[in-house]
Amino acid sequence: MPAKTDYAKLASEYGTPFYFLSKTEAKNRVREIKKRFPKNAKLCYAIKANAFLTAFLKDEDILFEVCSPGELSICEKIGMNPNKIVFSGVVKTLEDVKRAYALKVNTITLESKAHCEYLLEAAKSESQHKQQVILRLSGGNQFGMSEKDLAECISKIKKAPSIKIRGIHFFTGTQKKFKTISEEIPYIEDYCTHLKSDFGLENLEIEYGAGLPYDYFSNQDEKHNFSALEEFSKLIENSTFSYVIELGRYIASPCAKYVTKIIDVKGDEKNKYCLIDGGINHINYFGQMMGMKVPKIEHISQINAFSDAENYTIAGSLCTTADIVIRKIPLSAPTIEDLLVFNDIGAYSITEGIYLFLSHPLPAVLCDDNGEVSVLRKITETYTLNI
Ligand SMILES: Cc1ncc(COP(=O)(O)O)c(C=O)c1O
Repeated sequence: MPAKTDYAKLASEYGTPFYFLSKTEAKNRVREIKKRFPKNAKLCYAIKANAFLTAFLKDEDILFEVCSPGELSICEKIGMNPNKIVFSGVVKTLEDVKRAYALKVNTITLESKAHCEYLLEAAKSESQHKQQVILRLSGGNQFGMSEKDLAECISKIKKAPSIKIRGIHFFTGTQKKFKTISEEIPYIEDYCTHLKSDFGLENLEIEYGAGLPYDYFSNQDEKHNFSALEEFSKLIENSTFSYVIELGRYIASPCAKYVTKIIDVKGDEKNKYCLIDGGINHINYFGQMMGMKVPKIEHISQINAFSDAENYTIAGSLCTTADIVIRKIPLSAPTIEDLLVFNDIGAYSITEGIYLFLSHPLPAVLCDDNGEVSVLRKITETYTLNI
């Protein structure tokens, strides 16, 4: 980010609300994370957290976990080397698997016996190309396979000369506490050790979605707090297994801000409201139920008059009482046309919102590359999709 971004100028030029991504931040973030990785681990960006960052990161020496045909199309469109793609996703058709196979992606993830059959079918067509796979072990939900199904798939794949088992995939959730991670690692290593001996597999990597937590509501600048990652790295650094660590939120969170305009101010002595042109459809901080927790925001006032701060509720444009962004935040004389800048919005906000409700336009997405601003997406009307 430039030293002082002129959000008012950006707002008048591009309209509000908008997301403001930092390319430099995204690249730095990946480098800072890789610096703290142990030697036996490689980084994989789960692009679902923020697909826009994929283009910024495509030349980094990392893998990209791609979870749908649409995400695969993004990678193709930006010219990503297929050898960096882990084609994942719980729902895959034969066509999806054939497409990934034909593209020669680095790895295809198998989450069911059906996926395995699709891959065997796809692999029939070409014998020279050796396709790597990882098999996802279920954590007790619809994702991945039971131990029994997984063993069946391994037996079948071992007979297919054009498929190579790279490892086992395991992901159970996001914003994980270290305690959970420290229980999962020995569990999955023990499982893989048994698989190796049961099936005579020489190498077996562990592709692990660590779900590292990002604290959106702390008073500190979390961008510089790598304690969760450092603790995790220590846990795996002496392992005999090689790891691929899939991270989404932990990479993307600090890489974007969201700028929204105050459209109305009202209330009485008891309840004061700021109504904004955005809302919960654009803002998604994990763990923030009904605006009860306060993320880091900056108030950019039009009037420079000083007045004591009073508590306000920040509510959005969705015409539902659920659209409370922040229940209680002290603001000093908020006024129509003021801007609110939300920090750490980079993960799971830009692509995960309920964007069609009330036919509000999609926010613009701007990119800051060392002070140079470009438009990745203009404000886009959605009413045309609801007719
Ligand atoms: C398989 C897989 N890997 C990685 C991730 C990324 O998780 P996080 O954003 O917590 O890092 C997800 C998120 O849903 C996932 O499903």
